[in-house]
Amino acid sequence: METSQEVTVKDMVTADYRTAFIFERYAIDFCCGGKKTLDAACAEAGVDPRAVRQDLAMLSLGTILQPEQFGDWPVDALVEHIVQKHHAYVRRMSPVLIAHTTKIASVHGKNHPELNAIASHVAFVTEELTRHMQKEELLLFPYMRSLAAADREHRTIAPPPFVSIRNPIRMMEQEHVVAGDAFKYVRGASLGYTVPDDGCTTYRVTYSELDEFERDLHQHVHLENNILFPKAIDLEEKLTRKE
Ligand SMILES: [Fe+2]
Ligand SMILES: [Fe+2]
Repeated sequence: METSQEVTVKDMVTADYRTAFIFERYAIDFCCGGKKTLDAACAEAGVDPRAVRQDLAMLSLGTILQPEQFGDWPVDALVEHIVQKHHAYVRRMSPVLIAHTTKIASVHGKNHPELNAIASHVAFVTEELTRHMQKEELLLFPYMRSLAAADREHRTIAPPPFVSIRNPIRMMEQEHVVAGDAFKYVRGASLGYTVPDDGCTTYRVTYSELDEFERDLHQHVHLENNILFPKAIDLEEKLTRKE
């Protein structure tokens, strides 16, 4: 794995998806804030770059399970994977997170006032994500599927109502930043999901769920921003050139 000065954290995750698990372990942002070198990202996360490099080197030794190489996947297969894995997860977990954060805020909010802000951020971000995924599923993803089909069948494609795929993609990327920032706030307010000594089991469960949800969001956004969207832009350009 190349870890030189020029390569960004985002590039490393794109080249080898397994690096995401290592960056997550060190709370290094590889999606929205991933356009940084490893040293810069480590400095921002306050971790020793030597430790991260050591873990990354382990990947070449095959010590971590081999996940899918999404970079090789066609656009429509990526869309299917994202909807079935990540969108389904967000829909399944959103009501659970709202119920749990509301519950711990009502029980522990007096001693831990940050729980009230966490609950309102979770309510906000889950509602935003629900609307965001609807836009992807109703507008952007069907167009991406039609691009993939046209390419396979060597057909041209009618111009979309949004003129170019770059327009909805720009909007989706902005919404990813909003969701990522909301979770950055939640992580900060909870001191990295640290359960206080007087925290009950629901407190513990809720923080584990929030931690897992944020990790899933990072993978979800990484797949879209860094793999699916650039592929779809290239495909649209290729099919437009044919006309
Ligand atoms: Fe999505
Ligand atoms: Fe998205």
